[in-house]
Amino acid sequence: MLSNQHIEIIKSTIPLLESAGPALTQHFYQRMFAHNPELKDIFNMTHQKSGRQSVALFEAVAAYAKNIENLAALSAAVERIAHKHTSFHIKADHYQIVGHHLIETLRELAPEAFTPAVEEAWTEAYLFLAQIFIDREEELYQLREKALGGWRGTRRFVVVEKTSESKLVTSFVLEPEDGGKVLDFQPGQYLGIQVSPTGSDNVEIRQYSLSQAPTGTSYRISVKKEQSSEHADGLVSNYLHRELNVGSTLDVMPPAGDFFYQPSDAPVVLISAGVGCTPMQAMLQQIGKQDSSQQVTYLHACENELQHSFVDETATILAANGWQQHTWYREPQDKHEATNCHNGMMDLSAIKDSLPVHFGEFYLCGPVGFMQAVVAQLEAMDVERSRIHYEVFGPHANL
Ligand code: HEM
Repeated sequence: MLSNQHIEIIKSTIPLLESAGPALTQHFYQRMFAHNPELKDIFNMTHQKSGRQSVALFEAVAAYAKNIENLAALSAAVERIAHKHTSFHIKADHYQIVGHHLIETLRELAPEAFTPAVEEAWTEAYLFLAQIFIDREEELYQLREKALGGWRGTRRFVVVEKTSESKLVTSFVLEPEDGGKVLDFQPGQYLGIQVSPTGSDNVEIRQYSLSQAPTGTSYRISVKKEQSSEHADGLVSNYLHRELNVGSTLDVMPPAGDFFYQPSDAPVVLISAGVGCTPMQAMLQQIGKQDSSQQVTYLHACENELQHSFVDETATILAANGWQQHTWYREPQDKHEATNCHNGMMDLSAIKDSLPVHFGEFYLCGPVGFMQAVVAQLEAMDVERSRIHYEVFGPHANL
């Protein structure tokens, strides 16, 4: 436990943290990569360039300081971050490196305020938080290692199928090279993959949602080819689309992630945009397999028909279970007569009466702006936050 004295000192540094803002974590990352360049093989350097990761880390540090007397308020964030860390195979030793650069960053940015007492308090507070992560991550590693078909760290997989799902999304079915089983996962979770793309000086780790319910022998991920030239987005996704073919191999970490379908009797509404449909595919398949009496509504938005992934696969599952779906095309190419096909952005007011707004569970995945707009619409219909579950691809953002 932290002493009262240390807690008071941490609280007294909150204004300092707030005035530094994400510049603090930017400085931290620059410092860490300069001194420990080997970590560039772990971190997503594209997220570094975009600055989103610095903001996510800053928000976590600031939230820690603000909730230092009520750490229970952080438990959902700790769980999300611990899952993310395990998909990079972060080890206990890494925490010493991060802690060292965090303390040195505070010293460099606020030399006068960073008295020996402040240094001692922040060192203790960091070690305390680091231990919470180390313990939870070790627990997750052990669970996955001991499960049937499980493992720890990386395992070599072979691509056994490569299928185009739409203009920009391609699925890869992966089987372990050793021919063994693979552990089950919760639909909604993601896989960490590790590759060395041509054109990159580093090993690259990325997370992709599993887009198929567990099979016991293989995993399917579905990857959107990122086209933005800004911040070199798409280094890995373009490499996978271009060079990862049937027979290619890659290293894979066990499935992870705190966003997943939680079985309940309540009706379920799955809401996605673009490649956010991937975890929804796994959820639809799993619910269809497990519980045919479950009521599911699937709402999906995408640019146009060409970018609409899994059209037939989704229609088959929905028809087999008698579930409803609605689709929104932002810029449709054709005219659609069907009442469940809409033009423009997702607008729930048109279908409000068919939604279980009073007791349904809502699962969202898509770009942050899309999810913010949907959450605002759901809240206007009195859906409580506790019934809204969401996943952000890339560094976390609060909706
Ligand atoms: C107490 C210490 C730490 C805190 C508070 C922390 C916090 C965070 C947060 C808030 C995220 C973003 C999570 C999300 O997007 O959902 C994150 C991601 C990440 N963390 Fe940590 N972390 C800590 C320690 C470490 C350590 C020791 C390492 C390994 C050197 C590490 C490596 C990473 C990586 C690779 C990511 C993903 C980055 C990306 O997507 O670019 N973290 N961490």
